[in-house]
Amino acid sequence: RIAYVNGQYVQHSEAAVHIEDRGYQFADGVYEVCEVWNNQIVDMPRHLDRLGRSLSELSIDWPMSRPAVEFVLRQVVRRNKVRNGLVYIQVTRGVSKRDHFFPPANVAPSIVVTARSSSPAAVNAQAEAGISVFSYPENRWPRVDIKTVALLPNVLAKQSAKERGGKEAWYVDADGNVTEGGSTNAWIVTKDGKLITRPAESGILRGITRTAILDLVEREGLSFEERPFSLEEAYDAKEAFVTAATNIAMPVVRIDDKVIGNGHPGSVATRLRELFHTATD
Ligand code: PDD
Repeated sequence: RIAYVNGQYVQHSEAAVHIEDRGYQFADGVYEVCEVWNNQIVDMPRHLDRLGRSLSELSIDWPMSRPAVEFVLRQVVRRNKVRNGLVYIQVTRGVSKRDHFFPPANVAPSIVVTARSSSPAAVNAQAEAGISVFSYPENRWPRVDIKTVALLPNVLAKQSAKERGGKEAWYVDADGNVTEGGSTNAWIVTKDGKLITRPAESGILRGITRTAILDLVEREGLSFEERPFSLEEAYDAKEAFVTAATNIAMPVVRIDDKVIGNGHPGSVATRLRELFHTATD
């Protein structure tokens, strides 16, 4: 496998950044995960728009021009012969002696790009069974709109879900509303068939898959509303699912100890999942 690190394509097994990289010491960096489907990077412009926004919110410069970043992403996909899988990009504030203050202006941001194949069959098998999620108290910083590599709360929430047999954690805020998953956006379908997902203005990352699914929902003329929903409402929903670049729309069949709907993947989530790649082609 090949990775890209600060201007060079290197063997993945030997790819390394310096111990004084600010990503390592302060989680002072941002990232994107894009799906690769049929050799194409899905929704790359939107991912790079969001990367630019994350960088600018943290006053980190682009490590190189946006077209150059696009070129490297495509190169890493190609050099690893990824037909279906993921490409990952991480940009940090760079390498400098440990000091909380930003480093001098001449310190260049670090950039790392990796890619790996994944089996669509394995993800599809999971989608046919549906996943369990477990609620978890919202304990992240308020700037979850920035896609930072500071993911310790997400790691702990997801691990806690895993130890109870789940695949995802759903954060619940102080008002009892679901914000999002540890690495996904959260959706429900009400008993009268309306899709609900939380507005992206507060409490969540504006998922690229979420935006693409909303486009699809409008195109298909499905009934939907962007509003917060409570954990109680989710327990009572006809369907639930999560969206992310890593799993498109993944049906949720259990939340905590409650079976959702009839305990099988819902028809809306399944249809959106089937339509997704035709809509992004
Ligand atoms: N996670 N919310 C959070 C907290 C996320 O980390 C992610 C993505 C999403 C969905 O965003 P998108 O649709 O753009 O993938 C929502 C990536 C996949 C990850 O950390 O692996």
